[in-house]
Amino acid sequence: MNEGDAATYDNDVIGLAADLWPHTARFEPDGEISVGGLRLSAVAARYGTPSFILDEADVRHRCRAYASALPDAETAYAGEAFLCRAMAQWIDEEGLSLDVCSAGEIAVARAVAFPAGRMILHGNAKAPADLDAAFGYGVGRIVIDGTTEIARLAALAPRRQRVLVRVTPGVDAHAHWAVAAGTEDQKFGLLLNSCAAADAVGRVLTRPELDLVGLHCHLGSQLTELSAYEIATRRLLGLMATVRERHGVVLAEVSLGGGHATPNETGEECDLGSFAGRIRRVIADECVSLRLPVPHLVIEPGRAIVNQAMVTLYRVLGVKHGAAGRALVAVDGGMSDNRWPELYGASYSVHPVRASRARPVLTTVVGRHCQAGDVLAADVPLPADLRPGDLVAVAGTGAFNHAVASNYDMVGRPPVIAVRDGTARPLIRRETSEDLLARDIGL
Ligand SMILES: Cc1ncc(COP(=O)(O)O)c(C=O)c1O
Repeated sequence: MNEGDAATYDNDVIGLAADLWPHTARFEPDGEISVGGLRLSAVAARYGTPSFILDEADVRHRCRAYASALPDAETAYAGEAFLCRAMAQWIDEEGLSLDVCSAGEIAVARAVAFPAGRMILHGNAKAPADLDAAFGYGVGRIVIDGTTEIARLAALAPRRQRVLVRVTPGVDAHAHWAVAAGTEDQKFGLLLNSCAAADAVGRVLTRPELDLVGLHCHLGSQLTELSAYEIATRRLLGLMATVRERHGVVLAEVSLGGGHATPNETGEECDLGSFAGRIRRVIADECVSLRLPVPHLVIEPGRAIVNQAMVTLYRVLGVKHGAAGRALVAVDGGMSDNRWPELYGASYSVHPVRASRARPVLTTVVGRHCQAGDVLAADVPLPADLRPGDLVAVAGTGAFNHAVASNYDMVGRPPVIAVRDGTARPLIRRETSEDLLARDIGL
């Protein structure tokens, strides 16, 4: 956000924080917010609310930031954060690979002919349909997440399948428990400590149908502790050295998963330059001391590519003053399009779309759903003159928001509208009551 522009308004005390909003977010001369060269009121007038507004330039910018910070590594966008055909095409055009974790995600990638060789299938419990889809499209790599998968994959693979073994390195990166994936007491991967990972490697190597290319780990999400990545890297390389000793096989690839934190109201981001420098160094040092060749490095950011690129646009439906005079602003979406404040206490930057000279008051923005916990943002400074009909925008809603949106209260999921250079294009249309009834067979 252009800070100079913000300062020309009395409401600059609630001005946009640059790192929380899409790159192209601006204040127009009259103080209204625009994204991708379009006023948000114009997007709302055309496509309605609530809507997810996706800044294409922001997505591309972040893809390029990874490519330039880690030119020798492979960056695979974790599609589970947000995927649709257009997103898959942008990821392809930017030269990234693509993580998928279901038949549905493979279908989306396949619909735009995303190169199968650059796709990686994940999942701690891959359904038969997921494997059918992966084998049917020729997905390049499949990450084995449990011993029982080995025989299953070997039996089903129509051709020699490249695989990685997902290792649980026993690293606590201090993520929220629900997104901590590197610690031992959670569902993902094969334990390094108990030798389950080493055993799995041994078993995979006995299956001629499987081509073991490397090891994978994913430590969790919203991580800022680079030391956690360093420890995990050392442990994975240590296992690679063991594999070479035991089996005479030098694994060529190490994947460190995703998890790079994006900034929010309460937390810092994971600094990509520092991440790149420290991981490169630890790999180089460790490979010298273990006498291993430097492996091909894969990283899998999801949130860090798409989260800041999206804002959710809501219309205010009601304003109340609750206990202790607390301002309550109710909008036309809520926990059906953003579950994270309720689930994890996530906090967001909220901003009125029009300029206001009214003094800011601490306001709680609530959703329209039938639960008291349907709160989008508590105690955020919003102008005292917000009224029904006004638009508010919530920033940093690109990752895991549309992806986990629901039809709670039989409310259709919002559309995703891409904006770029002054034009808007719907990528996913609004879900209608007819869509909901189409699944409801009745008596
Ligand atoms: C295996 C794997 N890789 C990458 C990611 C992306 O994580 P993030 O969006 O936090 O970068 C996930 C998400 O949970 C994942 O499970």
